[in-house]
Order: sequence, then structure tokens, then C-alpha cells
Amino acid sequence: MTNQEDFIATVSHELRTPLTSIRGFAQTMLASWDRLDDDSKKKFLGIIEQQSNRLINLVENILSVTKLPNESLILKNIPVNSSITPVVQIVQQQYKHHKFITLFDKSNPSVTVDLEKFQQIMINLIENAAKYSDEGSTVKVLTSHTDKNVSVKIQDEGIGITDEDKEKIFGKFSRIDNPLTRKIQGSGLGLFITKTLVDKMHGKIVVRSLDKGSEFEVIFPAYNIEDHVKCSVTQ
Ligand SMILES: Nc1ncnc2c1ncn2[C@@H]1O[C@H](COP(=O)(O)OP(=O)(O)O)[C@@H](O)[C@H]1O
Ligand SMILES: [Mg+2]
Repeated sequence: MTNQEDFIATVSHELRTPLTSIRGFAQTMLASWDRLDDDSKKKFLGIIEQQSNRLINLVENILSVTKLPNESLILKNIPVNSSITPVVQIVQQQYKHHKFITLFDKSNPSVTVDLEKFQQIMINLIENAAKYSDEGSTVKVLTSHTDKNVSVKIQDEGIGITDEDKEKIFGKFSRIDNPLTRKIQGSGLGLFITKTLVDKMHGKIVVRSLDKGSEFEVIFPAYNIEDHVKCSVTQ
């Protein structure tokens, strides 16, 4: 298949699955309104909302991919911990049965990044950590710094990633097909976008295996007044 056919096939499939589910639940509600109790109605509306969110995320990811090559980023000096906190709260809303723990560097070090893109990176990584691990397990977010760098680690207790797959997961539309991942839905765009954005902001991303689960580490240059002047980034 050409890249474009590949793209259309993947996107159509990804769009159709949630749309079919939204239509199905809407039809059931319309056809059986009087027979359904309030709990069922609430449950069906919950599914419709969840599937709509999935569609919105997918469309945002697709728009991101098409815009990425020409997108100019606004680099600013931002405190790392306080930029991550709202992201953890958003993912927590979606994954209510996971535990989220933040172990933050007390000095709240600053990084020079585009805030919105940095948060998009964090959403993708923290969401994956929850998505590829069981309910009840813990997702940890750790920050630390050296003179030159600020590091953010996202650790999960999930299904893990083999060494062979570690090479593949950052590719466009790349998803690992095995019995554990097959029932989890996704477009395979999240890590491609993440890696592209990290590269654009002069950062590095590394994936490692833990005793149980995986760790993704992103490292960005720490805010440094001399570099800041040299690159003339916006403050
Ligand atoms: N924390 C993780 N644990 C295990 N596998 C992961 C994790 N994060 C990503 N993966 C694997 O990498 C693939 C690519 O991730 P991503 O680009 O975010 O796409 P998506 O989540 O839409 O499938 C996933 O399909 C999954 O197989
Ligand atoms: Mg993902």
C-alpha cells in the first residue's frame, strides 16, 4: 500500500469504530426510550460522550500530523511541575481507577519549551501509561534536573514493550499487534507526534523496561539565561 492508502485505511477504520458505536447507542435510546431506566440512559450517554472524545482526540492528532512539518513553536521558559499537574488531572478524569503519583523535583526547574506542545507530549505519554496498564495499577510521573537538563519520567506497571518493539513504536501509525494490545484502541499517532515535537524542541525521548511495565523519559535543555539570549526565544 502507498502511504496515502495506508493513511486513508487506518483513519477510516479509526473513525468508523466510534461512529458506529455512537450511532448504535443513539438508535437504541430513540427506539426504546420508554423502556429504558435512568441508569441505562446514563450509561449509554456516557458511552456516547466517551466515543465522541475519542473522535475528537483522533481528529486533533491527525490535524497535528499534517501541520507538524511547518509548525513554528513558541519557546518559553516554563516551570516543569506546574505545567504537568493539570495534565495529570485531565488523564485522571479519564482513568478513574488508576492511581497517579507525582514525585516532583522540589525546585520546580524551568525548561524552554512550547507550553501547549509540552502538554500535548505529557498527555500522550501519561495517557499511554494508563491505557496500557490495568485498572488499579499506579502511574508515576517524576521530574528531576541537572545543570544542563530537566528530565520527566513516566512509569507504568503495564504490559511492557519488547526491545524489538521499542524501535517501532515511534513510527507513524505504528501500533504493536499482540493479544494484549489488540483490544485497546488507538491510531498509532501519539508517539509519532510526541517524538517529532520532542525533536523540534531540542529534547530527547528514551523508553526503558521496568521490572513490570515501562518508563518513558523526556529530557529537555534546562532554562539557561545565556542560551536563552543566544537563541532569542520569547520569554
Ligand atoms: N506505556 C506503554 N506500555 C506498553 N505499550 C505502549 C505504551 N505506550 C505505547 N505503547 C505501544 O506503542 C504503540 C504506539 O503508541 P501511540 O503512538 O501512542 O499509539 P496508540 O496509543 O494510539 O496506539 C501502542 O499501540 C502500544 O502498542
Ligand atoms: Mg497513544
